[in-house]
Amino acid sequence: MTPVVPDPVLSVANLRVSFGQTEAARGVTLAVARGETHCLVGESGCGKSVTALSVMNLLPRGIARTADHLRFQGQDLLGMSERQTARLRGDKMAMIFQEPMTSLNPAYTIGSQMSEVFERHRGATRRQAMDRAAELLARVGITAPGMRLGQYPHQLSGGLRQRVMIAMALMCDPELLIADEPTTALDVTVQAQILRLLQKLQQELGLALLLITHDLGVVARMAQRVSVMYAGEVVETGTVAEVFAAPTHPYTRGLLDCIPVPGMTRAGEPLGNIPGVVPRIAPGFIGCGFRDRCTLAMPECAQTMPLRNAGGDHFYLCRLPPDWKRAAAA
Ligand SMILES: Nc1ncnc2c1ncn2[C@@H]1O[C@H](COP(=O)(O)OP(=O)(O)OP(=O)(O)O)[C@@H](O)[C@H]1O
Ligand SMILES: [Mg+2]
Repeated sequence: MTPVVPDPVLSVANLRVSFGQTEAARGVTLAVARGETHCLVGESGCGKSVTALSVMNLLPRGIARTADHLRFQGQDLLGMSERQTARLRGDKMAMIFQEPMTSLNPAYTIGSQMSEVFERHRGATRRQAMDRAAELLARVGITAPGMRLGQYPHQLSGGLRQRVMIAMALMCDPELLIADEPTTALDVTVQAQILRLLQKLQQELGLALLLITHDLGVVARMAQRVSVMYAGEVVETGTVAEVFAAPTHPYTRGLLDCIPVPGMTRAGEPLGNIPGVVPRIAPGFIGCGFRDRCTLAMPECAQTMPLRNAGGDHFYLCRLPPDWKRAAAA
C-alpha cells in the first residue's frame, strides 16, 4: 500500500540513483497533484536534490536513474530520449535552483535569457518573447520591467535575481514547478517575500509545486503534502495536517521536537537538532538508515523496514506501530 494521489502531474515510484559507492536515492516514491504544494524536507545530504534532478533528467553525465516508473502528466519520462526531455524542461516542467547566479548566465541580459526560453519552446519572435518576459517580470513584482530586461544579472540584488528565476521558470506556463531550496541564499525578510510570491503564483496558476526545504515552518505555511527524506528514502509522508498532528517516524519526531505549533514557526528556523550525521549508504545496505541515530533502535532495525499506514494518506517506514508514543508513555 502506498499513498494515493489521484491523477498526479508528477509520479515517482521506487526511484534509485547511485554515485559509485553512495546510494543517494533508495526507492523514493512520491506524487504531486495539480494545484498542490508538496514539500520534500530533510537534512543536508538526504537526497532531495538528487530526486529533483532525476525528475528533470539533469543528473551528472554517466549517473543513471532507475525507477518502477517516473511519469509527468501520464507520460513515461524514463523512456524519453534526451531530446524529448529537453523539450519538456523549461516548458511544461520547470525548476528553480537555490543559487540564481549559477543558473543565470552573467554574460547575457535578463531579457535575452528570458526570451531565449520562449523563442526556443514556442517558436515566438524576439519581440513577442520580450513582451512575455516583461509581463512575467511585472507578475513577480518587479517594477520597471522594461528597464530590468536590459540589465545583467550582477546588476540585480539576490532577491530580484530569484524573482527573475521564478519569472523565467513561468515563461512557458509550466504544469510542474520544482523549487530546490529557492530562498536559502537570501536574507530572512527577502526569503519570506519570495515564499509568499511562490505561494501566490502556485495558487493563481494551479501549479503542481514540489518545494524542497530544510525549514519545517515553510512546510507548515506553504504545503498541503509533505515527504520527509532521510538517507535516500522517504521515511514519512502524508498531508501536512496528518504529519504535523501525529509525526510517527522517530526521525520526523526528532525534526519536529523543537518546532512549536504549526503555522507559528518563524521563517529560517533550523531543523530539530538530532545528534549525529546522515550516514553514507552503500549499495546493498539493508534496514533502517536512521538506526544509528535512533534512540529506539532494536536489532530488527537491520532488516528491511515495513511501510506502515498511520491512517488516511499518512505512511511511514519503521517497525514501530503507529501508536508507539502512547505505548511508550503508558
Ligand atoms: N555529483 C555528485 N557526485 C557524488 N555524489 C553526489 C553528487 N550529488 C549528490 N551526491 C551525493 O548524494 C547524496 C544526496 O545528495 P543531495 O544533493 O541530493 O542532498 P540534499 O538532500 O539535496 O542536501 P542539501 O540539503 O545539502 O541540498 C549525498 O550523499 C551526496 O554526497
Ligand atoms: Mg540539495
